[in-house]
Amino acid sequence: LEVLFLKIEIPLSKFYDFFMPTPVVLVSTMSKDGIPNLAPFGLVIPISFNPPMIALGIRDNRKTHKNIMETKEFVVNLPSTDQVKLVNKSAEPCSQINKFERVGLTPLQSVSVKTPSIKECKVHFECTLEWTKNAGDHTVIVGKVVAISVDDDLPAAEKTALMDKMGPLYYGLMTYYDLGKVLVERKNLS
Ligand SMILES: Cc1cc2nc3c(=O)[nH]c(=O)nc-3n(C[C@H](O)[C@H](O)[C@H](O)COP(=O)(O)O)c2cc1C
Repeated sequence: LEVLFLKIEIPLSKFYDFFMPTPVVLVSTMSKDGIPNLAPFGLVIPISFNPPMIALGIRDNRKTHKNIMETKEFVVNLPSTDQVKLVNKSAEPCSQINKFERVGLTPLQSVSVKTPSIKECKVHFECTLEWTKNAGDHTVIVGKVVAISVDDDLPAAEKTALMDKMGPLYYGLMTYYDLGKVLVERKNLS
């Protein structure tokens, strides 16, 4: 028998510290009155290939949560490492009506949903809401991807070239990462 108690037991509250870094997405949504919104989310899983589906973990006090419940749609936009400041800024609580304007991002007409995509992002997954379920302090929100649009230099690129061109942004323990390397700590961005 292995001796289990040689391992160190740690508080359950530390559980998420070991799931890092995870990719960051910018989710754009629209209120029922047609006001667009966006925010970064790290609890994101591509959960089905066919049909393509994405699962997000979103607290029920987020405006993003409210908007998705109202309109039954959202867009998952992939930011790049060079947009880290914008991403971080879009997480700040915002009383201003339109977060696109406040952060300085541009709404882009989507192909299949009314919710705008984010022009400055290179990849957009347009989603319709499939189902939601409460999971502890977050709601699991599953969307079906109904259209994908990308920058025109992306489809031809393969593997590392694709990765280089997308420059995906990662996050964990209050720090942003560039494919596993520290990019910048959040405290240095304010
Ligand atoms: C990198 C990063 C990842 C985040 N991931 C999540 C997440 O997965 N779920 C969540 O509910 N909030 C997450 N947040 C916090 C929200 O982005 C933040 O509360 C934001 O203000 C919500 O905006 P909204 O109220 O306009 O939807 C994250 C914040 C950052 C900076």
